[in-house]
Amino acid sequence: MEPAQISQSGDNYSSLKARIRALTEGETDAISLMATVACEVHHSDQRFDWTGFFRVVSPGLLKIGPYQGGHGCLVIPFDKGVCGACASTEQVQLVPDVDAFPGHIACASTTRSELVLPVFDSSRSLIAVFDIDSDQPDAFDEGDAAALSDILELAFGGLQ
Ligand code: SME
Repeated sequence: MEPAQISQSGDNYSSLKARIRALTEGETDAISLMATVACEVHHSDQRFDWTGFFRVVSPGLLKIGPYQGGHGCLVIPFDKGVCGACASTEQVQLVPDVDAFPGHIACASTTRSELVLPVFDSSRSLIAVFDIDSDQPDAFDEGDAAALSDILELAFGGLQ
């Protein structure tokens, strides 16, 4: 069944948030939470062609975590790519055109736009970045960034 036609309104994000809350209630294992969030977010929107986490495994280094979609790069240093920019600045990276982003890492040649969000635990330490790629140009907006940041806070904000 084709996923419902997705508007960029909050409606769909509020039902997505409710589903993730119900599925992750009481879970304290980061990988289990990442697998569930990647799956639910990926299948909620036709714009999302690759959806996944890169985990902070040591100072300045990201390694791939749970994801949905085609092949994902395994290792990304903080000084590389959109994911590295998000990790090093701890700021959302909203990229309307990946070809215009210096140092963009193309895990898939079909990617046209990207959104990467920082993931924090309860002590506001960066534990990962959440990366969403789209084959559509300029697919993401501030509304997406705000709604997804809220969902990440729900899922990971209580982690010790
Ligand atoms: N494009 C990302 C790398 C990860 S792939 O998109 C899955 C980047 O530039 O950091």
